[in-house]
Amino acid sequence: MFVDFNKPDASSGQRPAMPADPNALVVDLKSVTKHFGEQLILDGIDLQIRRGEIVALLGASGSGKTTLLRILASLDAANSGEVGVTDSRTVVFQEPRLVPFNRVWTNVLLGLPQTRANKAKAMAALREVGLEHKAEGWPRILSGGEAQRVALARALVRTPHLLLADEPFAALDALTRLRMQWLVQELWREHNPAILLVTHDVDEAVLLADRILVLKAGRLSVDLPVNLPRPRRSGHGFTELTEFLLAELGVLTDTDAGQPQTAPARAALAA
Ligand SMILES: Nc1ncnc2c1ncn2[C@@H]1O[C@H](COP(=O)(O)OP(=O)(O)O)[C@@H](O)[C@H]1O
Ligand SMILES: [Mg+2]
Repeated sequence: MFVDFNKPDASSGQRPAMPADPNALVVDLKSVTKHFGEQLILDGIDLQIRRGEIVALLGASGSGKTTLLRILASLDAANSGEVGVTDSRTVVFQEPRLVPFNRVWTNVLLGLPQTRANKAKAMAALREVGLEHKAEGWPRILSGGEAQRVALARALVRTPHLLLADEPFAALDALTRLRMQWLVQELWREHNPAILLVTHDVDEAVLLADRILVLKAGRLSVDLPVNLPRPRRSGHGFTELTEFLLAELGVLTDTDAGQPQTAPARAALAA
């Protein structure tokens, strides 16, 4: 059954409450299209995401990943199709988007009332990302990784059923990115939101996701469950899946498959 969580209930004028069912859908897209002028970006996307799922969305640069995420965040509208998405959602962007003249803890509460109870929640969220000691500081004293952890805390404090993350670690150095990937897994275990993680990093997708999507020519060309045990490390199963995805993304040709992955191959995805 399709539930348009954004559409007010006709009888009450209220948005329908999130269903209590733990397998309830948090995303339900049907034949969603989006074009910018003549350029067709999304060509009939069907997508369902359930509570607690971690879904990675891969695609070459310009394939429409951000466009799809912005539609799910209601930052942009589809041209046609049905967009069902839970109201309980937050977005983490590639850059942390902190307000420079707000202290760290008030950045966590951005848009929420600064009540004593909310400050306690902000402090708890900062503790979870290991930054309680920076709560009274200003954003300019934070490293890139710390700033992005504040952005995660800001998402957490809202206890969303759906976390939309658009290349949240792309601007971080490799070591910080690894730490953030582990942190996201811990937070997911603790809070169990559904996560739609847009990334161009195939390894990151295989490391984190229950399911991997590839957006290509306006369509989801791959929708693949990842059945590797957690915690995941490079090795058997991991490499095969990574190579399959790189080939799907046009980075490895069939004849390349089986060769060691190269940094330039990965970089090509980011280009
Ligand atoms: N507001 C916009 N106006 C016109 N074209 C846009 C707009 N936003 C995105 N596009 C175009 O849509 C395509 C997909 O963009 P985007 O969703 O940002 O791709 P990705 O996130 O996969 O790199 C690109 O060709 C981009 O230039
Ligand atoms: Mg993008």
